[in-house]
Amino acid sequence: MPEDGLLAQQRAEELKKLLQQAAYEYYVLDAPTLPDAVYDQLYRELQDLETQHPELVTPDSPTQRVGAQPAARFTSVRHNIPLYSLENAFNLDDLATWQERWQRVAAQAGKAEIGEFAYVCELKIDGNALALTYENGVLVRGATRGDGITGEEITQNVRTIRSIPLRLNLDNPPAIVEVRGEAFLGLEVFKQINQEREQAGEALFANPRNATAGTLRQLDSRVVAKRQLDFFAYTLHIEGGAETGEQTEVQQRQIEQLQHLADADGSTASEPAVPPIEPHLFNPNSTLQSPSSQWEALELLQKMGFKVNPNRMLCPSLAEVGDYYNRWATERAHLPYMTDGVVVKLNAVALQTQLGFTQKFPRWAIALKYPAEEAPTLVERISVNVGRTGAVTPLAELHPVQLAGTTVSRATLHNADRVAELDIRVGDTVIVRKAGEIIPEVLRVLTELRPPNTQPFQMPSCCPECNQPLVREPDEAVIRCVNTSCPAILRKSIEHWASRDALDIRGLGEKWVEQFVERGLLASIADIYHLSVEQLQTVDRMGKKSAQNLVEAIAQSKTQPWARVLYGLGIRHVGSVNAQVLTARFATAADLAAAEVGTIESVYGIGAEIAQSVYQWFRVPANLTLIERLQSAGVQLAGEAPKMPVTEQPFAGKTFVITGTLPTLKRDEAKALIQQAGGKVTGSVSAKTDYVVVGEESGSKLAKAEELGIAQLSEAQLLELLPDSLRP
Ligand code: IVH
Repeated sequence: MPEDGLLAQQRAEELKKLLQQAAYEYYVLDAPTLPDAVYDQLYRELQDLETQHPELVTPDSPTQRVGAQPAARFTSVRHNIPLYSLENAFNLDDLATWQERWQRVAAQAGKAEIGEFAYVCELKIDGNALALTYENGVLVRGATRGDGITGEEITQNVRTIRSIPLRLNLDNPPAIVEVRGEAFLGLEVFKQINQEREQAGEALFANPRNATAGTLRQLDSRVVAKRQLDFFAYTLHIEGGAETGEQTEVQQRQIEQLQHLADADGSTASEPAVPPIEPHLFNPNSTLQSPSSQWEALELLQKMGFKVNPNRMLCPSLAEVGDYYNRWATERAHLPYMTDGVVVKLNAVALQTQLGFTQKFPRWAIALKYPAEEAPTLVERISVNVGRTGAVTPLAELHPVQLAGTTVSRATLHNADRVAELDIRVGDTVIVRKAGEIIPEVLRVLTELRPPNTQPFQMPSCCPECNQPLVREPDEAVIRCVNTSCPAILRKSIEHWASRDALDIRGLGEKWVEQFVERGLLASIADIYHLSVEQLQTVDRMGKKSAQNLVEAIAQSKTQPWARVLYGLGIRHVGSVNAQVLTARFATAADLAAAEVGTIESVYGIGAEIAQSVYQWFRVPANLTLIERLQSAGVQLAGEAPKMPVTEQPFAGKTFVITGTLPTLKRDEAKALIQQAGGKVTGSVSAKTDYVVVGEESGSKLAKAEELGIAQLSEAQLLELLPDSLRP
């Protein structure tokens, strides 16, 4: 390697270490020491080095956390060690029974007395289990639990989780380290995601666990990177270090497992089909010992750079376990994530090994669950609500009941299928549940308590507001009103237009909108801009001052930027984030209206469904009329052509050549992005070219670039080099 290459390598290593430490302090310890600006500068420096020397990009580089090209599908992986689930207990009596049982098993199996033992209590995080594999200290694989034997390989997605180290903080790591833990979404982030989905007219996630599962299974890891998943580690397996005997722990466990299965079906166990550990996966210098207790394992995990839940406790007996369980029954309400119980584990690994596993569970651990936040109540009425997108949602109106600290008087019934499945009727007693911070739902109907003469509920076939027939798309569970002049849709569209994140028109709330629509003052969003003080004063209880203020607020809204306007239009799947993404690329409504669906889809972060929805919206004549009317009213339908301040133009002074077909960007889109970041794009490669962006089937230009030794970039690398504002 030439000298500058060596220097670059040293510097890159140094930067990676610094950035890794800074991220650890920020995301794991929650105690940052490095100012954000310094972090950004060092990060940019590393990115630059990696661009100049692409061979320096390693899987553990902090630049690898932003996600990569979408995967077509996930591949299945067999877990080296099965991911067991836990047996459930629901009260302290269950726990005492469990203790008696494991002590009996230990007494039968053990050669010696059980002697002293202790339990480790951990919070049971309500997320999704992940198995992480580190080879020689570097994260090489992340997989979901799946059925416990086979999961899905989601390494790209796992890399975006900031609290998962890409490299273990160990000087001499053992060849293989397997870490298990729980991926989860904090309640704040979960709320935000659902708000975004609601704004975009998408179905809400029922709870943080479902949202986590949905996020982990996203094929586009760039979307995952935006979702801020988090992770608590709780299990550690070490392989291939010096202390490992001839038979690895993995093999040992599998033999036990096979033995167990063989015992069950009466045959004899054969040799396990486990390949021996490859030579490069054996580090005889590693002196790290497998921990001999769960408590030590948790401490070691923390030392290695993982986030370990701080609310753990070592308990000498069931009495202390009970105290812990009771304490967290109330305190968990203040945690920023969901917990559904306590996991009680025997601390000593020797005792764990002695007890082993049943077909499904470890005998040495149990989940002590908290009662779900559910309560019975009466259905007083069943109503249907027409949303902004025309979706008709059935709702159960309930006799008010206390649930998780709030009074609940309505619960969603989701859709017609769910109503049919529940067979819910007025007069029924139902169980309602509140999971996390969301709208409560009806879990089940207690049909045994049903009074006589109740009638099954029929979903209406016509819109309750405008009486037009409702439509159900073949592959949708939702029934919709498709009447573009339905007053319910109109009211909700106007409320959305006036809402805080859209045009932010103070004083144009639900009550007034209802009256204005009823009196025929508003028949379209565009009519808002023709309301006069005199007209408004004709409405009940609207004084002159309020009317003047409202007209003023409406006039003020004309200065709101194009991104808010696009969001305000209420196009399905276009929440405020997507609106910003789209307006960063399409400087005017006319540009967006003229764009082909493929062009919209090629925008970084915009998927096929969103692109279709936007494209279709601009094909509806009434929508085009609305745009025209808004335009003549003076609403902002254009933004600044996106341009970066000179100081933030990372490509300033750099010359690019694009060659071949890029995987997602069209040639002129890539060109526009480079130009917005301050770069120049030319047609032919010369000694003055700084970078060649290389796609499929690139011919002579690539050969020339190679001849001149010019740095090459893939589309993904190009996107990564762009500042965040250009790369949403
Ligand atoms: S230990 C063999 N510890 O709960 C050990 N699991 O209901 C099995 N979970 O599948 C797991 N927090 O996804 C363990 N502190 C914790 C946990 C935990 C949450 C999940 C895990 C497991 C499920 C079982």
